[in-house]
Amino acid sequence: MKVLGIETSCDDTGVAVLEDGRVLLSNLLSSQVDLHGIFGGVVPELAARKHLDALLPLVDEALSEAGVSFKDIDCIGVTNRPGLIPSLLVGVTFAKGLAYALDKPIVAVDHLEAHAFAIFLEREVEFPFVALVVSGGHTSLFYVEGFGSLKRLGQTLDDAAGEAFDKVAKLLGLGYPGGPAIDRVSKMGDPGAVKFPVARTKGYDFSFSGVKTAVAVYLKKNPDARPEDVAASFQEAVVEALVSKTLKAAVDTGAARVVVSGGVACNSRLRERFLKEAGRLGMEVFFPSPKFCTDNGAMVAYVATYRYKQGDRASLDLDVSSRSWI
Ligand code: KG4
Ligand code: ZN
Repeated sequence: MKVLGIETSCDDTGVAVLEDGRVLLSNLLSSQVDLHGIFGGVVPELAARKHLDALLPLVDEALSEAGVSFKDIDCIGVTNRPGLIPSLLVGVTFAKGLAYALDKPIVAVDHLEAHAFAIFLEREVEFPFVALVVSGGHTSLFYVEGFGSLKRLGQTLDDAAGEAFDKVAKLLGLGYPGGPAIDRVSKMGDPGAVKFPVARTKGYDFSFSGVKTAVAVYLKKNPDARPEDVAASFQEAVVEALVSKTLKAAVDTGAARVVVSGGVACNSRLRERFLKEAGRLGMEVFFPSPKFCTDNGAMVAYVATYRYKQGDRASLDLDVSSRSWI
């Protein structure tokens, strides 16, 4: 069974062809990072226009790289939530047009579920596990009991962790996207140089707007501070919040495994701290490879495959939403 996965929820156009949920025949990405870099963040209307330009050539290329044609595709999986509405609309409208013209079924995919299951493109993970999805738009914790069976434990009450990375990088003049830049310069800084506070939130929720403001205030008062030290100290505060809440959730729910996914899961300090502290608790922690952590079409095709097998079909009335179903 061959599934065409389409991802356009934010600023990356992702298209993949996945066979039987196991063999990735192609996985292509068209990034808009240079365009949005000029503005220091994603501009929704521009993102949608770029998806419109990129989608058809990328689908053609993905099919040709996979060595298949439209008639070989059994199902079209498309992200319809959560995300930027103009961006989602381009992907969903395109998928519906394709499904109608080719008389193929569509499966609607939740972007957060796709991130939580991206690890399965590379290896199986035994259920149950706790999944931390941490990216530019989301910071959510899930208890995952099976394929398509997720319960939300908590989420950010304000900024996503990746958004905080991007905003702090801007304050430090490190450019966009900020996460990789902060990761890089932090290696030359002292993570204990400044004690930035992270808000104490209830249960398994997160909050990152306070630490971002604390960095802005600190930089105003200390204009000569070493950017490497500020970056490393900020990163340490965010990593501490992510690691401690996630592992607490795993202990409390009795899940002995943790999956960390989304763009921020590329962060080297986050990976290091998770591995060390999960190991101490006798837990296993899994990270997809960076290309499957950030937005991609393969994770969408993966979720569409099992949901198709479970009998899921979207109608041609399929709509988009800024909210996750989970
Ligand atoms: O998953 P993703 O590609 O798109 C969203 O769904 O948001 O994540 C992008 C986010 C950006 O905020 C970017 O700064 C962050 O992931 N990011 C990182 C790293 N690489 C990407 N944050 C921290 N450290 C990194 N190495
Ligand atoms: Zn994402």
